Amino acid sequence: MNPGIVTVSYIGATILFILALGGLSNQETARRGNIYGIIGMFIALVATIAGVTANIGILVGGLVIGGAVGLILAKRVQMTEMPELVAILHSLVGLAAVLVGFANFLGGSHHSGVELTIHDIETYLGILIGAVTFSGSIIAFGKLSGKITGNPMLIPGRHWFNLGLLVASIYICKMFVDQSAAGHGGGLTPLLIMTGIALLFGIHMVMAIGGADMPVVVSMLNSYSGWAAAATGFMLNNDLLIVTGALVGSSGAILSYIMCRAMNRKFLSVIAGGFGTTSGSSASAEEGEQGEVVAMEAHEVAQLLKDSKEVMIIPGYGMAVAQAQHIVYEITKALRAKKINVRFGIHPVAGRMPGHMNVLLAEARVPYDIVYEMDEINDDFPNIDVSIVIGANDIVNPSAQTDPNSPIAGMPVMECWKGQTTVVLKRGMATGYAGVQNPLFFKENTRMLFGDAGKSLDEVFKSL
Ligand code: TAP
Repeated sequence: MNPGIVTVSYIGATILFILALGGLSNQETARRGNIYGIIGMFIALVATIAGVTANIGILVGGLVIGGAVGLILAKRVQMTEMPELVAILHSLVGLAAVLVGFANFLGGSHHSGVELTIHDIETYLGILIGAVTFSGSIIAFGKLSGKITGNPMLIPGRHWFNLGLLVASIYICKMFVDQSAAGHGGGLTPLLIMTGIALLFGIHMVMAIGGADMPVVVSMLNSYSGWAAAATGFMLNNDLLIVTGALVGSSGAILSYIMCRAMNRKFLSVIAGGFGTTSGSSASAEEGEQGEVVAMEAHEVAQLLKDSKEVMIIPGYGMAVAQAQHIVYEITKALRAKKINVRFGIHPVAGRMPGHMNVLLAEARVPYDIVYEMDEINDDFPNIDVSIVIGANDIVNPSAQTDPNSPIAGMPVMECWKGQTTVVLKRGMATGYAGVQNPLFFKENTRMLFGDAGKSLDEVFKSL
C-alpha cells in the first residue's frame, strides 16, 4: 500500500481511538465510543495487513486462528467472568511484546552507534514490560477465577527482593547493550536472564496483593499492557502502535489512580503488595461477637417497599451472579408507578470490574438519571426509608470505617445503615471478595432476605 495512505489510515485510526476513549467515559456515549473503537481497529488492521508483502500465508493463518479463538471466547464468556477474560487477554499482549522483542533482536539490527543503543534499550524495555505483564496477568487471572488463593503471599523482605530485581534488571540492561554493541549476535544471554527476572517479578508482584486490591491490579496490568505495546511500537518503528499503546497505558494509569482513590489506597502501597490482607485477627475476633441476624420473607420486603417513599438500590457482585438486573428494573418501574422515588447507588468497585454494575443496569435499560455514583448519594442515606442491597457485601461493610485492622480499612463504603431499614439479599452468610465478616448484617435496622437474588426479587415482584 502507498505509504501516504498508510499514514493517513494511521492518523484516522488514532483519532477514532481517542474518540472511543472519550465516548467510553460516559454511559450514554459508551456504545458510540465502542463503535469508534471497532472502526479504528478495523482501519488499523487493514492498513497494517496491506503493508505486509512477505509471508502472507502465515499472517492469514494467524488472523484466522486468533480471530476464531477470540470470537469463541467472547461468545462463551459470562458477564461475571469478564475480569478473568480481560486479565488473560492482557497476558497475551505481554506475551506478544516478549515474542516480538526476541524476534526483532534475533533478526539482527541495521542500526549502529547511538541508534543501536536506543534500539537495544527499546527492545529490552519492551521485553521487560511484556514479561511482567504476561506473568502478572496470568496470576491475576488465577486469583480472579479462584484458581489461586486471594490471600496475599508475603515473603519476608519482599521490598528488598523487589529492589534487588530492579537493580539486577538495570545492571543486566547495561550488559545487554554492551554485548549487543560488540556485535557477533551478542546479548542473548542477558536478555534471557532479564526475561526470567521480569517473569518472576510479575508473579511476585501480583501474588503479594490481597483480594480487596485486585481491582487496582487489573487496571494496572491494563496500563502495563499498553506500555508494552508502545515499546513494541518503538521497536518496530510503528507510529500507530506507539500511539495506541500510549493511549492504553495512560488511560490504564488514570483508571488505576481513580480505583486507588475510590478505595483510599496509595498506588505505591498497592504495587509494593501486602495490602488487602484477608481475615485479619480483629476481623475473626469480631465474628463471635456479631450477634444474630433477622431474616425476612419476600412478601414482607414487598410490603416494606410499598410503605416507603425513598428507596435506594445498592447492587453488588451477587446481582451479576444472579443476573437479577432485569427483575430489579421491573420492581423499580412498579415502585415508581406508585410514586416512590427509587434510585441506584453504585460503588466504584462494586462487582468485579470497573463499571460492572453500570453495564448490567444499562443492559436492563435502567434510565441513567436514576443511577448515582457513591459520592453523589452517600450523604442522602439518613433520608432513605429502605435500602435494598443486592448481592453486595464489601462495599457496604461498616468495618471499613470502624476497624483499622480490617483488610478493607479506609475504603469508602455505601453508608446504608444510616437509613431507616436495610434489606440485604444474599444466599447465606458467606463473606465477600475481601473475605471479611460484615457487621451490617447484624445491625438492628438490617433485615436479611436469604436466597438467590434473582429468585428472591421475583417473589418480591409478585407480591408487589
Ligand atoms: P462482594 O463483597 O464480593 O460480595 C458479593 C456477595 O454476593 C457475596 O457475599 C455473596 O454472598 C453474594 N452473592 C453471590 N451470588 C449471589 C446470588 N446468586 N444471589 C444473591 N447473593 C449472591 O461484592 P461487592 O460488595 O460488589 O464488592 C466487590 C468486591 O470485589 C470488593 O472487595 C472489590 O475490591 C472486589 N473487586 C472489585 C473489582 C472491581 S474493579 N469492581 C475487581 C476485583 C475485585 P452469598 O454467597 O452468601 O450469597
